[in-house]
Amino acid sequence: MPTKTHRSTKVSPVTGGKNAAQKRGKHSLVIRVHRKRKTPKTSRSSCAPMGSPVMSWELQEAAAPCFPAMAETYRFLEFFAGGGMARAGLAPDWNSVWANDFSPEKASAYRKNWGGGELHVGDVAAVNLLSLPSADMVWGSFPCQDLSQAGGQSGIGNAHDETFTRSGSFWPFWRLVARMSPPMVVLENVEGALRANGGADFRALCSALSQARYLFGPLILDAVHWLPQSRKRLFIVAVREDVPIPNHMMALLPDAFCHPKAVEEAYASLSAEVSEKWIWWSVCPPCVDRPRVESLIGDADQWVDWDSSEKTGYILSLMNPLHRKKVRDAQRLNRRVVGFAYRRTRAGRQRAEVRFDGVAGCLRTAGGGSSKQIVVEVNGETVRTRLLSPREAARLQGLPDTYWLPPDYNEAYDLVGDGLSVPVVRFLGQQLLTPLASVIPRRRVATA
Ligand SMILES: C[S@@+](CC[C@H](N)C(=O)[O-])C[C@H]1O[C@@H](n2cnc3c(N)ncnc32)[C@H](O)[C@@H]1O
Repeated sequence: MPTKTHRSTKVSPVTGGKNAAQKRGKHSLVIRVHRKRKTPKTSRSSCAPMGSPVMSWELQEAAAPCFPAMAETYRFLEFFAGGGMARAGLAPDWNSVWANDFSPEKASAYRKNWGGGELHVGDVAAVNLLSLPSADMVWGSFPCQDLSQAGGQSGIGNAHDETFTRSGSFWPFWRLVARMSPPMVVLENVEGALRANGGADFRALCSALSQARYLFGPLILDAVHWLPQSRKRLFIVAVREDVPIPNHMMALLPDAFCHPKAVEEAYASLSAEVSEKWIWWSVCPPCVDRPRVESLIGDADQWVDWDSSEKTGYILSLMNPLHRKKVRDAQRLNRRVVGFAYRRTRAGRQRAEVRFDGVAGCLRTAGGGSSKQIVVEVNGETVRTRLLSPREAARLQGLPDTYWLPPDYNEAYDLVGDGLSVPVVRFLGQQLLTPLASVIPRRRVATA
């Protein structure tokens, strides 16, 4: 947690005399800006209401436009469960009947939030097939470190050599799934998994699905359609060949909403045999009022405090002229505006890069080697900075404030940063997974 300092700032230009910043305390920096006009023209889209509160689960439920909630509860197994964001998004239509993760910290958070009688802590490679209950679906958010840009892209390895990479834990997971053969499988990972290692990892995933007699299709869903966070994730939805998929759920062609160019390229790179199993899933783009970022970012809390004015001045000094101008432009709005900054190394130099487009950058964990996201709050002449708090990160993932977070900053941040965005999972559940589960031939699903 940053420490408070009470020395006066030397960063210029700073106003003298009494001002709002002084009334707010020492943790703010006042920068006078040249004002072009008093009230700037702003456009307001109907999908971004001013000052909307944190969206409650009930509200999000009501906002889902395409499918009514179904009464039946389906069963799923939650592999690589982390903090249980898959079950948060799939409830109440889906019931997590078994979960696994090998991290004691994640397991403790999972238990605090969900009770966790169904949680089995340990390496997926040690899971016994016979211990798995029957289920309609298996969800697998396997580790992304070796498939993301930050992680060096050593990939998932291959079925016989999985011990060399963290993402290679896909293979022991997959051996269980292939032998269990549930009617539906969802694989989730970073968007970069499509192109990692020249597409070899994605082709390996597709071949594994095809050999296990699944039809499958990937979707890239960006959390920004539901939340003020830019976060693209790959979801591969696979359905066992004997499940009669309703025609209206499949399209003949890709849809720009969930099938960007990288998906088309990945499809084109598959062998004829594997691409025969491919499905272009048809989904109805969401129509949700995204909460405004200012409504999710609050004041200092148990994890974070505002930076001293010296530290804020230092962060601003790391900005190049373009990013300093963004701060000045935000000041000219003369109201509270929240932006986000990351520290990056550019051409061997430390830089701070800020955005004020109402969207936070993708949450990442320290394990990915990236810096922590910084909140830059501008209110007229006053500028304050601090680290994004784990509670705010949780809100940016669509988790309600009742979701329990560990007291330790890094542990809490990693838990949330590693997780799924809840409304994205809910969307997938309502648009594809629940309707598909409703057509599974029931005789194939034991009641355990
Ligand atoms: C990308 S995170 C999934 C997060 C989860 N879907 C959520 O929303 O919170 C991957 C998870 O896999 C777990 N994990 C990684 N390797 C594992 C292994 N070999 N066995 C079991 N769990 C593993 C990690 O502890 C981490 O929680």
